[in-house]
Amino acid sequence: MAIWHINGGNRLEGACFVQGSKNAALPILAASVISANETDLLNVPQLSDVSSTLRILRQLGCTAEQQNNDVYIDSRSLNCCTIPKGMMECMRSSVLFMGALLARCGEVHLTAPGGCKLGARPIDLHINAMRSLGASVEENGCEIICRAEKLKGGRIELPFPSVGATENAMIAACGASGETVITGAAREPEIVDLQEYLRKLGAYISGAGTSTVTVSGFVPERHAGHRIIPDRIVASTFLCAAAATGGDIELRGVDSRQFLRLQHFLNSAGCDIISSKRSVRLSSDGHLNAVDSVVTEPYPGFPTDAQPILMAALLKAKGKTKFREDIFDSRFCHASQLMRFGADIAIDGREATVWGVRSLKGATVSSTDLRGGAAMVIAALSADGSSSIIDAGHIARGYELFDYKLRSLGADIFTEI
Ligand code: UD1
Repeated sequence: MAIWHINGGNRLEGACFVQGSKNAALPILAASVISANETDLLNVPQLSDVSSTLRILRQLGCTAEQQNNDVYIDSRSLNCCTIPKGMMECMRSSVLFMGALLARCGEVHLTAPGGCKLGARPIDLHINAMRSLGASVEENGCEIICRAEKLKGGRIELPFPSVGATENAMIAACGASGETVITGAAREPEIVDLQEYLRKLGAYISGAGTSTVTVSGFVPERHAGHRIIPDRIVASTFLCAAAATGGDIELRGVDSRQFLRLQHFLNSAGCDIISSKRSVRLSSDGHLNAVDSVVTEPYPGFPTDAQPILMAALLKAKGKTKFREDIFDSRFCHASQLMRFGADIAIDGREATVWGVRSLKGATVSSTDLRGGAAMVIAALSADGSSSIIDAGHIARGYELFDYKLRSLGADIFTEI
């Protein structure tokens, strides 16, 4: 069990490169099996979720290797369409193998996926999407078996723009005959990146980034090369950490247009932000103000993944900030841990109110989930005295060399494995 020890109070200063996006890389890794091909991916972050996905690919018979930030996959040797429960439960995105293996093999045996505990996380929209393409889906105890001799293109109407269900539908539709139209699709940048990769694999697909995505054919290519987009949530985390510590940092290799709402809130809180297309610089004197209410929404709205980290950044902001969580039904677990630092937070259902306090004091807390863990790091960096974050392994699921990068920006962090 990893424990992070942080001595708070240091300003973050300097420049840092932002890693590739976890949430773009994971669907692309799953999609790599839809045809017999070789894939070379660049800018893949070194994370435990990526290693778990590569393990699934090897379980399926593929060659799957990561060297630094390059990943090579050879899916020509795929010889299995079953994913064991233990592998499915490592993360939520394992469910994307449902669409990918149906497209490739016409059959898949798996179980419900795992992932951060943020309330109920059903997969009904994924299953309905497979059924809309003509697959039969049987649930036998904890096992889910999907079959389709040949998927048939159709209309998939998503009642909510689920990111994963949109991705699963796009991936499965590549194996279907005829045209598939997905309406009510999620519009996240990671979905656009998946479309780019599917095109390189041979898909005729358009519309990603809007709420209607159309897949009209697939002529498999033997090789696809792709560079993963930068991680907008990791970029947001560094900005929040700099804001909370009165720091001055420049993020490089980002697409600043993909986290404008976060920049807007930090700017309203009193931070100076200068962004160009590929970089963002934030400077803060550490004296922040509360902001207008923060409501999480599907992209391009304020992302639910950035809610815990913005909350952590505003714990000392003068005044009252209201947060409303409209994506997940239980995403305030981090709040009780943040209160251990002396934060003043009240939770009422899907709303949290934060009253800024003068100072935070070091505490021992337990990382609740991936972004909750990052929020605790931000609180610890801006607290007086020393803090310990237990169960920090959650953080490694989404942040590459986070402790090392924060240290290079001036943070006082020691990691105990
Ligand atoms: C993805 C992201 C995650 C992010 C989330 C919302 C990845 C690997 N993960 O998760 O970091 O927090 O988008 O931006 O990309 N829902 C259903 N039925 C379904 C599917 C979803 O009711 O079949 C509900 C969920 O319970 C949740 C909401 O839809 O309340 C959003 O979930 P979804 O967009 O699917 O998130 P994920 O793809 O799981």
